[in-house]
Amino acid sequence: MLLGVNVDHVATVREARKECEPDPLMAAGIAISGGADGITVHLREDRRHINDKDLKSIRRKVRDVELNLEMAATKEMVEIALKTKPDMVTLVPEKRAELTTEGGLDLKRGRKKIGAAIAAIQAKGIPVSLFINPSEDDVSMSHELGAQMIEIHTGLYANAKGAEKTRELTRVKKSVRRGVALGLGVNAGHGLKFTNVQKIASIKGIRGLYIGHSIIANSIYLGLEKSVREMKRLIKEAVK
Ligand code: PXP
Repeated sequence: MLLGVNVDHVATVREARKECEPDPLMAAGIAISGGADGITVHLREDRRHINDKDLKSIRRKVRDVELNLEMAATKEMVEIALKTKPDMVTLVPEKRAELTTEGGLDLKRGRKKIGAAIAAIQAKGIPVSLFINPSEDDVSMSHELGAQMIEIHTGLYANAKGAEKTRELTRVKKSVRRGVALGLGVNAGHGLKFTNVQKIASIKGIRGLYIGHSIIANSIYLGLEKSVREMKRLIKEAVK
């Protein structure tokens, strides 16, 4: 199971002071030393953390592991993706006022836009993943839209309590099963931490986990390399 480390949060700290450090490119290198199988950057329309220069320099340097570009399905972003050539693109919904991506894509409403973005990007040989809620219908719709991969939103599971947590986990499991049956590459992410990652990592069929906040937060205590290494260790232990 792959671990993709999201370095947006490093750029968020940088932007808090408009300084040149901490540098998400340097963080990407350290995350790779700690065992990351991929680096994720989310280029938001408002450029509130990762900017175009970061994306360019990270693409130039991150060559041996997968670079995942998270973005909205807009014309501007599709053009940037085609120019930058990441190893994969994850389409996400974007709302200006949100603190982080709040939910999966609305595939029914965004059908035309999302379908067009998938077609344009995949035509250039870049696989597209859709960030979706844990719903079997959304998994099937992602397949119909032609995406090669999906990323199942685990944030609802992460935030749920008591019996609702079990129900959310079941939704994730069912969605993974449907995705695997349809031949999709099935990823998962959002809200995963040292304390909850193993329940998700132990689900059979998941290709990769995409994790940001918790790894970067724990890097304050442990250092980034150790924080990534610990997440990798927990994932490996759960996969066995
Ligand atoms: N996957 C997607 C699509 C996201 O938008 C994010 C947040 O940037 C993540 C995974 C990582 O979530 P977290 O920062 O909660 O680990």
